[in-house]
Amino acid sequence: MDKLVSLAKRRGFVFQSSEIYGGLGSVWDYGPLGAELKRNLKERWWRSMVHEREDIEGLDAAILMHPKVWEASGHVAGFTDPLVDCKQCKNRFRADDPRLKGPPGDPDTNCPVCGNKGTLTAPRMFNLMFKTFMGPVEEDAAVIYLRPETAQGIYVNYLNVLQSSRQKVPFGIAQIGKAFRNEITPGNFTFRTREFEQMEMQFFVKPGADQQWFEFWKAERMKWYQGLGIRAEKLRFHHHGPDELAHYAKDAYDIQYEFPFGWQEFEGIHNRTDFDLMRHQEHSGKKLEYVDAAANERYIPYIIETSAGADRAALVLLVDAYREEQVEGETRVVLRLHPSLAPLKAAVFPLVNKDGMPELARRIYDDLRGRFNVFYDDGGSIGRRYRRQDEAGTPFGITVDGQSTQDQTVTLRDRDTLLQERVGADHVSEYLSARVKA
Ligand code: GAP
Repeated sequence: MDKLVSLAKRRGFVFQSSEIYGGLGSVWDYGPLGAELKRNLKERWWRSMVHEREDIEGLDAAILMHPKVWEASGHVAGFTDPLVDCKQCKNRFRADDPRLKGPPGDPDTNCPVCGNKGTLTAPRMFNLMFKTFMGPVEEDAAVIYLRPETAQGIYVNYLNVLQSSRQKVPFGIAQIGKAFRNEITPGNFTFRTREFEQMEMQFFVKPGADQQWFEFWKAERMKWYQGLGIRAEKLRFHHHGPDELAHYAKDAYDIQYEFPFGWQEFEGIHNRTDFDLMRHQEHSGKKLEYVDAAANERYIPYIIETSAGADRAALVLLVDAYREEQVEGETRVVLRLHPSLAPLKAAVFPLVNKDGMPELARRIYDDLRGRFNVFYDDGGSIGRRYRRQDEAGTPFGITVDGQSTQDQTVTLRDRDTLLQERVGADHVSEYLSARVKA
């Protein structure tokens, strides 16, 4: 992980938030390459959910919602972690922190930070939602929350989407957006952060058809990640046992990846039953039934949810792509990202900065720029330039050499095989489009 974190900073994937002020705990910023990677990931998700399917519509709900939403959803009462404070050093721990040996609150338990005995409090519940104030005068203003999940924006809009899009059950609503949780033990780089992005899809089905749709989405989501080029042996399902199930779920699977710090969830598939719509119906007083005119029946749909973290999935892509390989007696670091996800699709290099090479290289670069995110690099030895692009995960290197100015061909270097082939300068664009397609 340390090597990946350092590469991420060096190449401009991820920076610590507010770094010049010492950083803000577990908040991260995406640099030029990271922003592209995450965007490519989100675009693939949106395309597979919204554009390629007739039965899913997109939504972009606001982060701020009526505070009653979070009462109805159960978050005000139940979105809590049990915490233990050290009265001596003031550090705070989750009660299930493995460093707290012995039962929490046990006076013999040592504080894992200051080492004092008997200074830990009994566990107390701590709500993970961020609060803020709406209105000009803080004292009189309503307390509202930054959403801890995007899902609720979908539930409260389900009838609006249904009616305006003229969909019929079964159908889904997909959304990508920020969510916020005041996590107590965040960490492992971008794995658990306080501000993050979710890609959630809620699929509304007739009660009774729920388990079948649950199985469908479970298989579909695993297939999708494998299609992104993530190694199958690093992916697995984790079935929630009765003690792990969230209060709203009848059945749940996590999709886990084997990170350097162990197998961890990065997407959850839940059968949420009619819990959410029932609760919103009760709390809002508005009927949220689906009316099936053809069958002359009405019911509250069941919901199958696929909930992915965009940041966590982007971290999976980085971890899975990171390789150290021996090439000609040297170690090369390479990100073997799927070309469709790679931030830069190609880099253009004049072999030397003379004899007409920069002019031709610039012309090729300018031609490609309108269609692909490409990079121009004329600094340092060609070997150094290749290595920089390997670390950035750029799948193709286009080199303009002495022969190029004679016959208008360039060499195309493949990041993974290291094979080089000569291609006509006019065919580079066609070559790239065939290879960077999803
Ligand atoms: N609507 C259901 C829901 O939010 P969740 O399991 O709490 O379920 C779903 O979150 C996904 O969101 C997780 O699998 C993870 O990828 C991402 N996620 C949750 N908390 C996160 C955090 N603190 N930092 C980064 N990603 C997080």
